Amino acid sequence: MQRPRVLSGVQPTGALHLGNWLGAIRNWVDLQNSHETYVCVVDLHAITVPHDPARLAEETLSTAALYLACGMDPERCCIFVQSQVSAHSELCWLLNCITPLNWLERMIQFKEKASKQGDNVSVGLLDYPVLMAADILLYDADLVPVGEDQKQHLELARDIAQQRINARFGSEENPVLKVPAPLITKEGARVMSLCDGRSKMSKSDPNDASRITLLDPPELITKKIKRAKTDPQMGLQFDNPERPEADNLLGIYSILSGRGREAAALECADMGWGTFKPLLADATVSALEPIQHRYAQLMDNRDELAKVLREGRDRAEDTAQTTLKRVRQALGFLATN
Ligand code: TYM
Repeated sequence: MQRPRVLSGVQPTGALHLGNWLGAIRNWVDLQNSHETYVCVVDLHAITVPHDPARLAEETLSTAALYLACGMDPERCCIFVQSQVSAHSELCWLLNCITPLNWLERMIQFKEKASKQGDNVSVGLLDYPVLMAADILLYDADLVPVGEDQKQHLELARDIAQQRINARFGSEENPVLKVPAPLITKEGARVMSLCDGRSKMSKSDPNDASRITLLDPPELITKKIKRAKTDPQMGLQFDNPERPEADNLLGIYSILSGRGREAAALECADMGWGTFKPLLADATVSALEPIQHRYAQLMDNRDELAKVLREGRDRAEDTAQTTLKRVRQALGFLATN
């Protein structure tokens, strides 16, 4: 019996942060034991906003190394680079031609990112969710583990598969594409900025102090946590809408310390910020230490990394081509032989 499939990815745009790890990658690590798991570095997505060609390749490698350092195991999952499997771009084009423009124009992330770019909004930025749908649909993914901010993109991928492809070009007994489901776990799905508990931790925030990256050295982590925004109340607690910073930092602590929500809430219920912050800093440093150690080893031995990505590409290519062929047939293209 084939195991259910998982596909996910992260953009190689600067160092990954706690949000990427806790919201997405951490869940992939568990899923690879029970699911046929594909994870890609989505470098084609990284060029939808202005990018630096001198850094793209290095950041692609570095992101792949972080997948491995966080516990993705090439023996149990397929790790590859999106642009190296050309079926992603090809399916994206096919889906472009059947996706209504107004579905894309209402995407929240497009509106947010476009508003920051003035006159310089690329067609690629608008098309970002269609490429993401292609990534997912090519692998017949059952589950897509992502953070909360990707929910709308996942709904779009489902609508494209169901309403635009299966309903028009398939039949109920014989659907062309698998309709994927999002996997958004409550814990870690929305890690917030250290400077403002009401806005998301994000790679594009111009303020470095707003996020902890997986490669920040211990002193920097401690400094960022020390300066993180607090409120005047004693005691940490969850779910108080007046205290988003308390909710966020306690949430991070509950995961990184391994305590879980209930025990962490009990432990910190009467704690002042001055006691809590060093505790959080220690938990963060200890959680990241093994990842940083493994990352350094991998970046020192690029041959191993290159081999993982080569083998990943070959496997991904096989699966992706099978789906692409099915879609080409359903849409009526002349067969190649
Ligand atoms: P990216 O690189 O922006 O984010 C990668 C993953 O990290 C999650 N994430 C967060 N989770 C919790 N709290 C945060 N503050 C936080 N910030 C980011 C994101 O939800 C995501 O899961 N569009 C995708 C990349 C992509 C993709 C795909 C994902 C391209 N194709 C196919 C899944 C399947 C993205 O957001 O990348």
